[in-house]
Order: sequence, then C-alpha cells, then structure tokens
Amino acid sequence: MCGIVGYVGERDATPIIIDGLSRLEYRGYDSAGIAVLQDGAVQLRRDVGKLANLRARLADSPISGQIGIGHTRWATHGAPAEHNAHPHISMNGDFVVVHNGIVENYLELRDELRAEGVVFKSETDTEVIVHLIERFANDGAHRDVTEAARRAITQLRGAHAIVVMSRWQPDRLVAVRIGNAGGVAIGLGNQENFIASDIPAILEQTRRMIFLENRQMATVTARSVSVQTLDGNQVTPSVHTIPWDLVSAAKGEYRHFMQKEIFEQARSITDTIRGRVDFEHHTVQLPELNLTEEAARRIDRVVTVACGTSYYSGLVGKFFIEHLARLRVEVDYGSEYRYRDPIIDDRTAVLAITQSGETVDTLAAMEEARTKGALLWSIVNAIGSQAMRMADGHITMNAGPEIGVASTKAFTASIVDQYLLALHLAQQRGVRTPDHDQRVQDAARLPDLVGRTLERSEQVEELAGLLHHYTNFLYLGRGINYPIALEGALKLKEISYIHAEGYPAGEMKHGPIALIDESMPVLAIALKDSVYEKMISQIEQAKARSAVVIAIATDGDSFIASKADHVLYVPETPELLSPVIAVLPLQMLAYYVAVRRGADVDQPRHLAKSVTVE
Ligand code: F6R
Repeated sequence: MCGIVGYVGERDATPIIIDGLSRLEYRGYDSAGIAVLQDGAVQLRRDVGKLANLRARLADSPISGQIGIGHTRWATHGAPAEHNAHPHISMNGDFVVVHNGIVENYLELRDELRAEGVVFKSETDTEVIVHLIERFANDGAHRDVTEAARRAITQLRGAHAIVVMSRWQPDRLVAVRIGNAGGVAIGLGNQENFIASDIPAILEQTRRMIFLENRQMATVTARSVSVQTLDGNQVTPSVHTIPWDLVSAAKGEYRHFMQKEIFEQARSITDTIRGRVDFEHHTVQLPELNLTEEAARRIDRVVTVACGTSYYSGLVGKFFIEHLARLRVEVDYGSEYRYRDPIIDDRTAVLAITQSGETVDTLAAMEEARTKGALLWSIVNAIGSQAMRMADGHITMNAGPEIGVASTKAFTASIVDQYLLALHLAQQRGVRTPDHDQRVQDAARLPDLVGRTLERSEQVEELAGLLHHYTNFLYLGRGINYPIALEGALKLKEISYIHAEGYPAGEMKHGPIALIDESMPVLAIALKDSVYEKMISQIEQAKARSAVVIAIATDGDSFIASKADHVLYVPETPELLSPVIAVLPLQMLAYYVAVRRGADVDQPRHLAKSVTVE
C-alpha cells in the first residue's frame, strides 16, 4: 500500500526518508522512490521491488540534500515499473510530487495537458498532478508553490494525499489532504519538520504531530508549519503528542482501532483497487487468481463459503457475480457446509472469504470442496494465511492490518474484491454486460464516495446519543442491501451487546413485525434504487406500529424525511456498489452506540479476531 515520507531541515534528507519508508514496509508495495533537492536541482532515484533495491541504487549513485520526499507504491494505473514509481517530475524538472489516491478524472486531464504539449513519462494517474502544478505555476501570477498546488488540486476528482516539492522555493514542502485517501501527519522537530502518510514512519524522529483534516493543506519549512483550508483560510492546527508505544501510535488520532479502521476505508479501498483495474482499457486483472479463459468458461457455478461478516460479504458478492458474469452463485456458512453432503464437481468454483485466512470452519469447507474436486479460490486479508495457501488462486483484500475485533474495513475490501472478481470473470468468460466499461469506471469513484460518507460522522454520533438506551433493534434492507441490514445488526450486537436482528425487508411481515412497538427502533436502508418504493412501504408499516424509524437514504431525497423519524443521508452511488456506502453509517452507529455504553469496542467480550476452534 502506498506510503509517503517527507523531510525538510538541516540534516541529510536521504537516510531519514529511506528509514521512514522502511517502517512502512509492512504495508506492502511494489516499487519505491525518493527525490531530494541537491544544489538547486531535483535528484530522483526510483526502483521496483523491495526497498533494498532502491538502497542499492542510492549506494551506486548517492544523492543528498536538506529537503526531500519519498514514496512506496502499490500500482494502480500502470504496471510496477521504474518510470511509474513516484516521485513524478514535471516537464521542466521544477516540481516533484508523491501521491496516495486515485485521480478519477485523470484521462480527461491527461488529454487536456497533452493538447497543451505535455509529454507524459509514465502511465500513472499521479503524473497529471505534477504537470498541472507546473502549468499553474507558469501562468505568471502564481510563482508560489502552495498557490500553484492549490489551483492544480482543485482540478482533481477523488480522494488524495499529496506532497509537492519545487526547486523554485527550495525551503518548503506542500502537503495536501482531500478526503480519506490516507492521512497526512506533520511531525514537528527542532529546526526540522517531517511529513508522513503513517505515524510509524516518523515516530523515531518526533512525537509531536499535526494531522491535516480533509481539504486542508500545509506549507512546511524547517522552522514553520502553516495550515490552510483549500479555500485559503488560515487554520490553527492542534498539536498531538504521540506516546512511544508503537501499538498506540498506530492508532494515531483515534480512540479505538475500530474507529481508525472505519475511517481509513477510503484509503483501504483504494489499496484494494490498486494495480488491478486498468481504467483506460476498462479491464480488471487478478493475476493471483490464476484463471485462464478456458478454466473460466468451464465453471458453471460459484459456491461462496464464509462465516460471520465475511458470509454477509459473500451475500453481496452473489449479486455481483450473477449480474456481471451471469454465473449462478450459492452462499453457504463455512460452519454448515460439510454437514450436508454438498453437490460439488470440477465445474464448481468454491470461493472462501476470510479476512484472517485461518477460520477453522471456512478452512474445513475448503477441504470438503477440495476433496470433491472443485476449483478453490480464496479472498483473504492475511497474506500467507492457510486459506491463501490452500487455494488454487486468491485475491488479497489489501486492507492493511485489522486490529479491532469487529470487522469493518476487511468487510468493504472483500466486497470490492468480489466486484473485481465478477468483472474479471465476465471478461474471462467473454460475457461482458453492455455496461461493463461503466461498471469498471464506477470502481474509481468508490474512495471518494466513501470519504464523503465518513465525513458525516457527527450526525451519526448525535443519533447514537438518542438511541443507545434501546435494547432491541430491527435492521431492514432489500435487494443488494439486504445483506447490509444483516451486517449492520451484527455490528451493533457484537460491540454494544444490544440485541439486533437483520432481515430482508420483505420478510418483516412474515414474523418479525410482531415484535415492533415504540421500544424497538427500525433501521431501514432505503436508498433511491430499484427497491426504493418497497422500502418506503416497509417504513410505513413499521411507523403504523409506533416504531422509531431511522432511514439510510440518498442525498436529495426529502420525501423520506416525512416518513422516517431520523434520516442518515449518503451520497448517490451506483446501485451495485451501494452496499459499500450503505454499511458505513451502520458501522459508525454501532461504534458510537458502543462508546456511549462504555463497551470495550476493540475487544468485545467472548470474541476473537481469528476463530480457530469449531
Ligand atoms: C464480525 C467478525 C466475524 C468474522 C468471522 C469470520 O465483525 O469479524 O463475524 O467475520 O469470524 O472471520 P474471517 O473473515 O477471519 O474468516
């Protein structure tokens, strides 16, 4: 996953940046690079593979200077290759940029810049940023790097963390955060300052840090840090002191790991998409799945096996694979699968979803499938886990370590993985739907949509203040969001110990409706989609029985406010991807309710992160 480190001060920047990058190695990457200003010129070194390769290159051809930026890259646009590694440099060599995130509109920006005569040296989306900055810097009025960066960045769609260095103003770095494509921490030293995407990268250097908020940018020199909003308003940032304990340091500005993991989903989803989607040719590559066209055509059924949250993710994935790849999908509990003599043959692909890769029930289901000759795939977060090793092919979630016991970012990552799997299957089987290209493109919008949804946490926290004393909840969803109702209810019960039931909304009248009264709030996922009217009628039925109704609704839907007692709005999202967005307010609600009730959020009673017993 991408990482950023920057330094400005009186010491040599190179070893400080390389040391910082080495502390991000655990996140994984495929290439790395560094740029320093040496005698007024930008010196750049980049290499693919491990940091050791970059170190060797630096040993052969050293660079040094008192200001610099470095990056570890996980490819999104363009293969892992030296010319695609960051930092990226502008045409005149005046500016360099490192970047985490996806520039959603990079194709149009690239065409615009090409028409102006810009020659691109990489296949990355990032490169448009550095050329845009140079374009604005050269238009005369803006020989200020901060100003040029601000103007360039307002052209970008998506969520981003960016650091810019320029030989024009060799005393400063400019850092920007838009949305949640990763944090930007500014470490405060003595006559020196640091920038990092992750605290561990600079924790050896300083414990005093400022965290940029969404849509803020900082101009950082050795002796000063000036923070502004993107609209140019000056901000007085709070300075946090990070304890030396690396575990708590990894928690950063958050009180709990679960909170951190909820709020880093724009970044984790970016990492899930990275390197797998070619937005230019509308294709998805999943090399670790090892799926030839011939094998893909032979499959006539997918059986998903998983437990708990991963099982609900599988229920969402069924919609993707059936709709996009026109393949039948069954979803089974890992813990049940082997007890019913399942019908499997060599035309069945069994897909195990397990973030830990060690859940014994899921592994047993995989073994059952293996014995019966199925093709075996896994979606895992833990690299090297048993489920990854056992499978014929795998897809990693790339969500980064998930420490909170209640799964959040691994859930959304595994949904995105299945979305990519469905698109990949469609390609390999030669059954692309007419809207295939658009569906590929939609994936690029996710990080931004996630970031915009998470920004609304205050409203969710307020609502938690009104709801935390209830002891029973009913969660309803329909169509592709019915598994999200199940997941929302699971999140609430496991961390707040409140009883919550999740149901496909149409099933309410077949039983659970008997429970509804004013003491049982009903949470309804009622987005503006193909089942919207049906959800409105469920809300009306619940209201008629005096329930307090909370609706998850689409921005701009004022009608629903007249039906529900409380509305949590989310941005409009393509229906197929809406589960990724709809689950976010439910994760936040569970979190804030649990905090209100004083529960141990990260380690709920009786639960374990990896369930290795039957
Ligand atoms: C709930 C949760 C569990 C896990 C389940 C399977 O928040 O995390 O329900 O999803 O124990 O775990 P994995 O995905 O590791 O197989």
